[in-house]
Amino acid sequence: MKTLGVVLSLSLFQLISSITLQRRQSCILPSNMTGKCQCQGNIVKCEDLDLIVPQTGGSAFLRLEVRNSNLTINGTSFTGWGLTEVLLENCQLTDYSFRYGSFGGLENSLRLLSLKDNELTTLPRSLSKFTNIETLDVSGNPIRSYNFNENILRDIGDTLLSFSFGTKIGGTELSQWPTTLIHLVKLQELILTAADITIMPTRSFHGFEGTLLRLTLANTKLRSVPLAISRLRYLQDLHFDHNQNVGDYGVRIPLIKGFLPFLNQMSLKDDNITTFPEVLQSFDRLDQLNMDENNLKFVSDKSAKAVSQITSLSLQHSGITRIPGAIQDITYLNILDLSNNSIHAIETNDLKESAELLTLKLNNNPILYISDKAFINQTKLRRLELKGIQIKRVPCALEAMIRRHQPGYIIVDLSNNKIECNCGLKWLFDVKNDRHTRTRFRIVGNCDTVAKSIQDYLDADLAACPSGINCADS
Ligand SMILES: *[C@@H]1O[C@H](CO)[C@@H](O)[C@H](O)[C@H]1NC(C)=O
Ligand SMILES: *[C@@H]1O[C@H](CO)[C@@H](O)[C@H](O)[C@H]1NC(C)=O
Ligand SMILES: *[C@@H]1O[C@H](CO)[C@@H](O)[C@H](O)[C@H]1NC(C)=O
Ligand SMILES: *[C@@H]1O[C@H](CO)[C@@H](O)[C@H](O)[C@H]1NC(C)=O
Ligand SMILES: *[C@@H]1O[C@H](CO)[C@@H](O)[C@H](O)[C@H]1NC(C)=O
Ligand SMILES: *[C@@H]1O[C@H](CO)[C@@H](O)[C@H](O)[C@H]1NC(C)=O
Repeated sequence: MKTLGVVLSLSLFQLISSITLQRRQSCILPSNMTGKCQCQGNIVKCEDLDLIVPQTGGSAFLRLEVRNSNLTINGTSFTGWGLTEVLLENCQLTDYSFRYGSFGGLENSLRLLSLKDNELTTLPRSLSKFTNIETLDVSGNPIRSYNFNENILRDIGDTLLSFSFGTKIGGTELSQWPTTLIHLVKLQELILTAADITIMPTRSFHGFEGTLLRLTLANTKLRSVPLAISRLRYLQDLHFDHNQNVGDYGVRIPLIKGFLPFLNQMSLKDDNITTFPEVLQSFDRLDQLNMDENNLKFVSDKSAKAVSQITSLSLQHSGITRIPGAIQDITYLNILDLSNNSIHAIETNDLKESAELLTLKLNNNPILYISDKAFINQTKLRRLELKGIQIKRVPCALEAMIRRHQPGYIIVDLSNNKIECNCGLKWLFDVKNDRHTRTRFRIVGNCDTVAKSIQDYLDADLAACPSGINCADS
């Protein structure tokens, strides 16, 4: 019996040490790279790296991420690596870095390459050699429109599905739309991160008008939503963000109903808009709308007619001072985010009609008053976030909501408040333990008065408090 134990523990020891050995072995890198890199499965992540050197003994890594470095690479750097994904971001790479060619050895294996946030003024010629590249990111580089080399784009156009480009935010180098993009004939996703352009020709997307599914145009000087977009027959996601010259006038585009029949998600963040653009009602399948960081202080009650078809709406940081009445016209609204506004009160009627809400976020609003009936009709809610709203008491409105709620599970997040946990909270305990309460719930957030979470206080301490305390009286 004793020998068996020894044998067992020995083999256990061997097993553990062989596992640790394998872990260490799997992070064996050329000596010039160790210390700057960390490995995780088949991924290597490096910072502050000087040099990428060949893997002489072969390598099991598939993805190499190098960031925030002053990096030197040359034609043999990637020999023996066999990578499918390479990210060299913010590495001070210039056109000169690629003078001797690069990426030798990765011609057939590479699927994804990011050269984001470097100092390239042209596309490296070695890109032409990739036979299977699907994703290319050259955003955050000062590449002028005529330096998106036609031959290179034609060469990778056979396989490329996603392309990101653009200058650094505020950069002036890219002042025209690069017409050579028409060679990306299989493109499904196009992301422009920043450009100094004011005009986009109607045929900007020619070449992939029938393949593009996702489009981002951000940080431009465009004065309106380009009509070229209406030619993207299968577009599903449109992100048109941080285009501050747009304004209400710029979204007043003459679109006939039936254009963009597949448009499902749209964001118009930080576009200097003051109301829901009327054009949105043309998009029958529009489901998720994000209009964060606009100036919607005076959003009119009529305007929501334009978006009555959506189920998810985000209006963060939009200067809103009360919950817009217009929201109640959105019949099937499931998700509403009104965080980071200046809402002071939630009145009984503000959300009365919004009975389909599953998620409601009101974080970081200076809420002074919440009606006890504020959430009474939110009987399907699964998540209520009231983080950082400067309250000291758990809102009494939770009582009516929980009592009327359908069977299910609700999470109420009260983090970043200064909640006073004392016997005044006994009502919450009573609601939880009332046999008529059909739903379960969990409170997230800590007490300010004791070193405990509110939930722990509810579970462990409140039972001992005297009964019969109403929330309103406490
Ligand atoms: C790696 O670093 C050593 C010194 O640490 C240096 O002698 C050697 O040349 C470096 N290897 C390469 C390929 O640069
Ligand atoms: C980056 O490295 C090169 C030489 O490899 C050097 O000339 C240059 O000064 C370095 N840049 C910075 C910002 O350290
Ligand atoms: C690449 O750089 C390494 C290290 O500096 C050097 O040993 C090697 O000869 C260079 N290869 C080419 C093709 O320039
Ligand atoms: C935003 O729109 C207002 C008009 O609603 C205009 O006066 C203002 O100049 C615009 N801001 C920018 C940055 O274009
Ligand atoms: C909202 O406020 C939080 C906390 O101040 C901040 O971290 C977050 O970035 C803000 N989000 C927006 C969209 O303004
Ligand atoms: C709850 O919603 C229904 C249907 O919209 C409405 O008739 C009722 O007045 C609402 N209840 C409250 C308390 O506001």
